[in-house]
Amino acid sequence: ETVEWAAESYDMGGHDTYMHKEIAEQADAVDRVLRGRIDDRFATVHLGGLNLDAREARTMRRVKILGCGSAYHAGMIGAQLIEELARIPADAEPASEFRYRNAVVDPDTLYIAVSQSGETYDTLAAVQELKRKGARVLGVVNVVGSAIARETDGGVYVHAGPEVCVVSTKCFTNTAVAFGLLALHLGRIRDLSVADGKRIIAGLRKLPDQIAEVLRAEGEIEKLAADYAQAKSMMFVGRVRGYPVAREASLKLKEVSYIHAEAYPASELKHGPLALIEPAVPTVAILPDDDLLDKNRATLEEIKARSGRILAVAHQEQEKADHTIVVPRNEVELDPILMGIPLQLLAYHTALALGRDIDKPRNLAKSVTVE
Ligand code: G6P
Repeated sequence: ETVEWAAESYDMGGHDTYMHKEIAEQADAVDRVLRGRIDDRFATVHLGGLNLDAREARTMRRVKILGCGSAYHAGMIGAQLIEELARIPADAEPASEFRYRNAVVDPDTLYIAVSQSGETYDTLAAVQELKRKGARVLGVVNVVGSAIARETDGGVYVHAGPEVCVVSTKCFTNTAVAFGLLALHLGRIRDLSVADGKRIIAGLRKLPDQIAEVLRAEGEIEKLAADYAQAKSMMFVGRVRGYPVAREASLKLKEVSYIHAEAYPASELKHGPLALIEPAVPTVAILPDDDLLDKNRATLEEIKARSGRILAVAHQEQEKADHTIVVPRNEVELDPILMGIPLQLLAYHTALALGRDIDKPRNLAKSVTVE
């Protein structure tokens, strides 16, 4: 499963920054992670390098996902997908925390290391610690043949292609899609019905066109960014499926624009961070059209009552929000993948408005290969 990337892949291709180029490439990148893997007959997917037989897939009792930065946030989406589609308890944890806390290594847990570069030292060290203790460790990695790809027992390549900008965009999205594939595969070995398998496959196949549709809202997002660039701080909130999206969007904004941002589960707002809400601290709320929509709308009211400005990312206009970025509906389980994309553009255009060095933000490195 080796992919050679031609020199053109590193060309800016008419874009002013790699970040912009990589955001724009996402429909193609998602098409690539899906290609050749879908099996319509059994409503499942084939993951050639996974190295996990059906018996193991049936008997594992827990999944623990480890990564750093955006990889950790993609792992949070992955954990939700695995719980929802395969009904296996799953969670994600920063790899660095895991490796230093003398975690209990459970023989019935499948560990998954997530990394774009495959070289992040903390993630690699977590893998080595796990292997030393006899755990089963798979990788969800972008760079073929990288250290983490080599140290793990198998896994799923993300096939996002080379990502040059320090901050992750297309690889984040492709990693979330790769977890969709893995969750579907595990689900179809366990409890997921053929009908649900088909429903998820149809949703996955819609993603590239829907991503292209989201990207067409760039002009609108650019205008919003000129305004949000004045914010002294920003709050990002979401519930369950929306929460990892809020986490990643908050990280993206911090990394490229240097605007302070916080991400909270919407339900936690009233337990403290509501004290920060005022006109100079706008909120970005992620509101998928799922069973928590009414709860999320109530959160918008709480924010409005404190005269906070609101930018909603939702499937329909939100009355309480000052602006809504409307994204197309997919299957509820896959909605987080699409909802993050307009917020990459928001971070990008905010940073551009502030004149930041977008591809090489201060103090950051593409991969942190030291402790
Ligand atoms: C660095 C980068 C982040 C990235 C993280 C994990 O901190 O600045 O953008 O998400 O490392 O990198 P990895 O290559 O392991 O996904």
